[in-house]
Amino acid sequence: MFRFETAGESHGQCLVATLTGLPAGVPVSVAAINRELWRRQQGFGRGGRMKIETDEVGIVSGVRHSRTIGAPIALLIRNKDWQNWTDALPVEDSDGAELKAKPVTRPRPGHADLAGAIKFNFHDARYILERSSARETTARVAAGAIAKAFLGEFGIQVLSHVVAVGAVRLGRSASWEELIALSHRPEVLLSCVDAQVEQEMKAVVEGIYRTGDTVGGVFEVVARGAPPGLGSHATWDSRLDGRLAQAVVSIQAVKGVEIGAAAENAASFGSTVQDTIHYDPGERRFTRGSNRAGGIEGGISNGEDIVVRGLLKPISTLRRPLESVDLVTHEPSLAAYERSDVCVVPAAAVVGEAMVALVLAQSMMEKFGGDSLTETRRNYDGYLQQVKDF
Ligand SMILES: Cc1cc2nc3c(=O)[nH]c(=O)nc-3n(C[C@H](O)[C@H](O)[C@H](O)COP(=O)(O)O)c2cc1C
Repeated sequence: MFRFETAGESHGQCLVATLTGLPAGVPVSVAAINRELWRRQQGFGRGGRMKIETDEVGIVSGVRHSRTIGAPIALLIRNKDWQNWTDALPVEDSDGAELKAKPVTRPRPGHADLAGAIKFNFHDARYILERSSARETTARVAAGAIAKAFLGEFGIQVLSHVVAVGAVRLGRSASWEELIALSHRPEVLLSCVDAQVEQEMKAVVEGIYRTGDTVGGVFEVVARGAPPGLGSHATWDSRLDGRLAQAVVSIQAVKGVEIGAAAENAASFGSTVQDTIHYDPGERRFTRGSNRAGGIEGGISNGEDIVVRGLLKPISTLRRPLESVDLVTHEPSLAAYERSDVCVVPAAAVVGEAMVALVLAQSMMEKFGGDSLTETRRNYDGYLQQVKDF
């Protein structure tokens, strides 16, 4: 069974991801994983943390001679900032350790601080924010890079771009070539394919930075090359759209998910929304007049691009803090501030790619199985032939 898990805290020793259920023989490149980690750290509007960390993955199991061996894969990314937190967050307790702690008693509205502190019964939200922090997404992106390598063996690619920052929107769709070019950029600003709109987005981030505020936005992930037939209409929890929605909304600060043109579709009529069906006898395949469904019908991929959007709220650590209440004294107080990002939409887009890749890899393994890549490919090729002969 394909599954992945992450562990690690924002200022702990390292982040860890384990990935189980991929066949043996998938090529894995450390440089390719590090490139994804680099992409996650970029974007205009990130806080000082990203200047401290240059993430690098260590693969400690499951990969030998640059290929998976069918064993669980364990990935490790060290936190360079840990050296500044060894006294505040020691693994073992000692006399006087509490004097070196860095308690957070003024919960930030919108963050996990208060709900988590109540739930885990801490009158200090430090441990809550350590784990709820999106630093955790570093581990997701590392695991996602391996899922991408697996998908790449079947010609499936997952890319993304930023559609909106605050009220500034890209008012058109992006071409696949634009998304490829974006993924190769040596510098990342706001990951918008339109240079003019990207400058407008930058101006929004500059504006909110000056005022001590934060801003959210929307990213879009596109997966090209997925075969028809991933996911299933048969049970609620095997629907591909449901799984993608869960995966994308699980990203910190993502509060909404859109599959295809869902919001626009909801305001339109059926005759203009559904993607008409055609057949290309030369290619021996069904084609569509449009892709407003985002490549999924009945919870099953239909062979078109899979398009998923994530809607991010503005992040909740504000330099101009909001009203809160002290967890210990119950007195009104302003929320805590700790070095923070002001806009994370481009980084979230990279995390979105990873989550979509992980769900697609899971669906591929569910449908085609196999303990070696050769076996998975044989099953896959047989199915593609069946689809061609349909
Ligand atoms: C890439 C990324 C970076 C983030 N950086 C910060 C940050 O620096 N400060 C902050 O308050 N929230 C940040 N967030 C959002 C919080 O992690 C998130 O709001 C918090 O965990 C509460 O979860 P929720 O917003 O999903 O309810 C970030 C999110 C992402 C995706």
